Amino acid sequence: MKDIKKYLYVINYPVYERDLCMMEMRTLFDDTPEDKVLISEREFNPSNSPFIKRRLEILYEKDTFEEILRELEKAQIRMEGFKAEYLRLESGNIPYEERLKSVREIGLRVIGFPSMTAPKIRLGITKYREKWLFGICVNNDYRWKEHDNKPCTYSNSLGIRTAKAIVNIATMGNPETRVVDACCGVGTTLIEGLSAGYDICGYELSPKTTANAKENLRYFGLEERVVNQDMNEIGEEYDVSILDIPYGIFSHTTKELQLEMIETARRISKRMIMVTFEGLDDLILKAGFKITERCSVGKGNFIREVLICE
Ligand SMILES: C[S@@+](CC[C@H](N)C(=O)[O-])C[C@H]1O[C@@H](n2cnc3c(N)ncnc32)[C@H](O)[C@@H]1O
Repeated sequence: MKDIKKYLYVINYPVYERDLCMMEMRTLFDDTPEDKVLISEREFNPSNSPFIKRRLEILYEKDTFEEILRELEKAQIRMEGFKAEYLRLESGNIPYEERLKSVREIGLRVIGFPSMTAPKIRLGITKYREKWLFGICVNNDYRWKEHDNKPCTYSNSLGIRTAKAIVNIATMGNPETRVVDACCGVGTTLIEGLSAGYDICGYELSPKTTANAKENLRYFGLEERVVNQDMNEIGEEYDVSILDIPYGIFSHTTKELQLEMIETARRISKRMIMVTFEGLDDLILKAGFKITERCSVGKGNFIREVLICE
């Protein structure tokens, strides 16, 4: 019988991104975190989410810490360059001295040299809901934050955190899902999607913005998967489209043009993830989509809505 693995995810988010985080978690794990912790059988790379701080692959789950130590002694684990860490959780934390002691005791039962500065493998211990959990820990490397320094930006670009979450909501975490960002601007979602290993391409009407998107992708060593073309002329079909729809304040658009774009999204994809500043429910329904989930993200006058439409 195949062993079923279990993972504990440590989640975090600012208040104004809470709903987007919940939407991402529901889409990826079919569940939402409690006390910023989520347990799932699904393995997901923490660095592909703006909200997952770290992941613990649970190897032992016991009532007492002593039982964990006994398991470790039995297993005779050999490892070079390991680091033992206590995973602090939102609730139910034990005192600092006890945390320190637990990490030391774990370290003493692993055969091999630890590395505090450049560990090859992280061993995690934590106490969650009266159970002690031990396993392999993987942290979000936050390298994606470098994407904030892309050479070309744009007043109406999405933030990289929002773009990352949208890409996960679109793909549902499946690298085989074929995604199109139909109005990709300077390529914010393309950068997040391609660097996370997803199958995503983009269309952009403006030649200058397309050139900027290509420059951004090149800068990060990513494939230049952008076409300078009106999305309404797309002939291919995709599993899902992302539509960060042009809106009044920044671009010249009309309800008729917006409806045409949503109708195109309907024609070329089974699902649509729409980002909008304006209430466009009437157009979405008119184009033949159902809105299955919605959330708001942002603060002040800059609140966008993210809609999942099928
Ligand atoms: C809200 S912006 C997208 C911003 C993008 N998500 C980003 O982060 O850079 C909308 C973009 O749609 C483009 N656009 C407008 N009409 C289009 C059309 N018919 N086909 C493709 N792109 C279009 C605009 O030039 C603009 O760059």
